[in-house]
Amino acid sequence: MAHQLTISTISLLVLGLFVVSSSAGNQIRGRFNTDPGRIVNGSLASMEATRHQVSLRRRLNDGYFFGTGHICGGTLVRPNVVVSAAHCFVDQVIYDGTFLSKDDFIVVMGNVDRFNQTQTMTFDIEHLFLRLDKFVLSTYDEDIAVLILNDSVPTNHPTIRPIELASLATPAGQVCQVTGWGTTEEGYGSDYLMTLDVPIISEEVCVNDTDLGHLLLPGMICAGYEEGERDACSGDSGGPLVCQSQLAGVVSWGIGCALPRFPGVYTEIAYYYDWIEEKIASVDGDGSGDGETSGDGSGDDGESSGDQSGDGSGDDGESSGDGSGDGNKGDGAATISISAALLLLMPTVLSLNL
Ligand SMILES: *[C@@H]1O[C@H](CO)[C@@H](O)[C@H](O)[C@H]1NC(C)=O
Ligand SMILES: *[C@@H]1O[C@H](CO)[C@@H](O)[C@H](O)[C@H]1NC(C)=O
Ligand SMILES: *[C@@H]1O[C@H](CO)[C@@H](O)[C@H](O)[C@H]1NC(C)=O
Ligand SMILES: *[C@@H]1O[C@H](CO)[C@@H](O)[C@H](O)[C@H]1NC(C)=O
Repeated sequence: MAHQLTISTISLLVLGLFVVSSSAGNQIRGRFNTDPGRIVNGSLASMEATRHQVSLRRRLNDGYFFGTGHICGGTLVRPNVVVSAAHCFVDQVIYDGTFLSKDDFIVVMGNVDRFNQTQTMTFDIEHLFLRLDKFVLSTYDEDIAVLILNDSVPTNHPTIRPIELASLATPAGQVCQVTGWGTTEEGYGSDYLMTLDVPIISEEVCVNDTDLGHLLLPGMICAGYEEGERDACSGDSGGPLVCQSQLAGVVSWGIGCALPRFPGVYTEIAYYYDWIEEKIASVDGDGSGDGETSGDGSGDDGESSGDQSGDGSGDDGESSGDGSGDGNKGDGAATISISAALLLLMPTVLSLNL
């Protein structure tokens, strides 16, 4: 185990050297990758249990060969709505938090083998909702994205079905499933969707007893194993953490993968529930299917009132305030900074190759 990890780490390090200087200061590593493989120490996912899983792809790369454009996971939460991670949309070449255009991406779903086109559907992103103008790569705050697709999946589709959003926080200790096509214990890619059981770790324990404490912000939850060995990894980003058949989290970031004392960090759906519902409602009646109430004309709050009453108003102000104050809290974790270089490197190599 340590052996395999070391080999892949070293080879990535060597590749990463020429970009290390520009990445100095970044400790957090997104589970984003242009070289996807599998979850570390997971098992093959069944189509039945993962019909909500989508693959977010770079349009250009996938145009060369179906499946090669995969960069992130995502979750279908309505016939025409996907929830994913904001950092998946960050321009990996500039790498200052600037987002790419939604037109650079497509969304593919319907087969656990990402190279197999049978029963898949491919969509454009018609609207992309993010919470920040520029992503903060030093904190990974507000790592959530709502994607409105250009069409809806038919309700009777054999291999695709939306999953419900969790509106309440998941209790610590509950065992949930994370799925993705991300990097495996072998350190390279696989074709098949993998799944892994991970227990939710309470905020208190994650802050006190792991080495992530000072990096956790509101809206982030920890799941996994303090002893390491099993985890989500690069390429799983944006993908689902499912607890009791509801989407409870989005794969966000980690430090290394499956390392002791560094469990995975997920964006908490319950924390952003009102915002997600509000964004979905804001385009409803736009012709995209559900045809609920339209045209109330009273701006954001009015639109969301049908679904979830009351508490929508406090959320936005709360979380944006947190993000700006915490920008330099990560300084203690200098030893891990090298792994951040890997992120920069992959797109660089890819863009040279293609
Ligand atoms: C592609 O997926 C379909 C449906 O899941 C399956 O029946 C078929 O065997 C797969 N083809 C390959 C080449 O794996
Ligand atoms: C949606 O986008 C996909 C992928 O580009 C395209 O094939 C499909 O025709 C589009 N559907 C509609 C209704 O525009
Ligand atoms: C976490 O640390 C705080 C402050 O040091 C302490 O009050 C609390 O009891 C600890 N909680 C756990 C679960 O260890
Ligand atoms: C995978 O799990 C096995 C058995 O639990 C463990 O020995 C091994 O170290 C794990 N692999 C990694 C990369 O952590």
